[in-house]
Amino acid sequence: MKTVRVNLGKRSYNILIGAGLLDQSHEIFGSYGIHKRLFLISNARVFELFGQSLLQKLSENDYQVTEILIPEGEKHKNLQTVENIYTYLISERADRSSTLAALGGGVTGDIAGFVAATFLRGIPYIQIPTTLVSQVDSSVGGKTGVNHHLGKNMIGAFCQPRLVSIDTNTLSTLPQREFQSGLYEVVKYGLICDLEFFEYLETHLESIKKGTSGILEDVISRCCELKAEIISHDETEQNLRRILNFGHTFGHALEAATEFQGLTHGEAVAYGMLAATRLSFMKGYLDSSTRERIIRCICRVGDLPSIDYVPTEGILEAMKRDKKRQGHQVVFVLLKGIGKTIFAGEIEERALAQAWEEAKLEVRS
Ligand code: NAD
Ligand code: GLY
Repeated sequence: MKTVRVNLGKRSYNILIGAGLLDQSHEIFGSYGIHKRLFLISNARVFELFGQSLLQKLSENDYQVTEILIPEGEKHKNLQTVENIYTYLISERADRSSTLAALGGGVTGDIAGFVAATFLRGIPYIQIPTTLVSQVDSSVGGKTGVNHHLGKNMIGAFCQPRLVSIDTNTLSTLPQREFQSGLYEVVKYGLICDLEFFEYLETHLESIKKGTSGILEDVISRCCELKAEIISHDETEQNLRRILNFGHTFGHALEAATEFQGLTHGEAVAYGMLAATRLSFMKGYLDSSTRERIIRCICRVGDLPSIDYVPTEGILEAMKRDKKRQGHQVVFVLLKGIGKTIFAGEIEERALAQAWEEAKLEVRS
């Protein structure tokens, strides 16, 4: 098992990464002083795969665990689902020492974290992520929240978990498309801050895609280390943390323009990274061989679904509502090399449209 520390003073916590951690949950929770009254938030699919046995094991070890099942999918990442969880918690007389445990992907983790941030003005929560996206990204860093029909993650709070426990075995049941989605986020880390890691991914991508044992643990740990380092410097995204949004301005706009259906989050981010790479080239920050190298690596992760049905105007409109907008300006994270970012504002709409159109062509070629 590997341990990565997120250093945030009183809000510091550990990320545990290893194969088979779910079965050891009662011991792990015991050693981290997790309260015995637990509400396990999950969806039916994940609960059946892992939740049932987790609940049983915890119950056998004096934990009082109640499951709260939420509907599956990004389109349910909204205030209605949050409201339903509040209702259940109130009816079950949850109190401030009760702890929420998010078992599932990023949708479950973001919702559970937001409930924890707001219920009774804040209760503790832990993350037990079961998708690659959630293991390398969403379970770490305390960004919690839900979508509004007009925009992605529009309602939320920063609220750090007490513990993140990553059982890499859970990835064995993950559909290939969802695994691939997580790999796009993995590539993102190399692009924004770690050339050596990017080179490692270029060399080992096929083994990683096969899920070769040991490699996944290394890859997930490296991503968590990089994210922990960034978060420790800038918890609330005043500056450095913004680099984690590489590809996300276009990507979130694509998710909103497709009404949070039809594409996974990772696929939307992949399109966004292709567009942001194009934009970096158009602005003169990247030479053409580096641009091609980046595009090649993103495309090697796997096929992306066609988005020809999404009008470019819809993407541009959605970007204007991006929550990171300051006044009329949306600041983009661009690349000035592999592992090096630059922030760029005041980008003309025409350039954004061109970068987007050209990014779509990269996928077809
Ligand atoms: P997801 O939570 O929708 O999970 C994808 C699918 O996989 C779901 O159908 C889920 O039921 C299923 N699943 C989960 N674990 C499984 C397993 N082990 N085996 C089989 N099926 C399993 O999607 P995601 O990609 O995990 O997360 C995307 C969400 O995370 C988006 O809402 C995105 O905005 C958010 N996100 C948040 C942050 C953050 O910092 N908070 C960062 C990145 C992404
Ligand atoms: N996924 C972006 C962030 O955590 O800041």
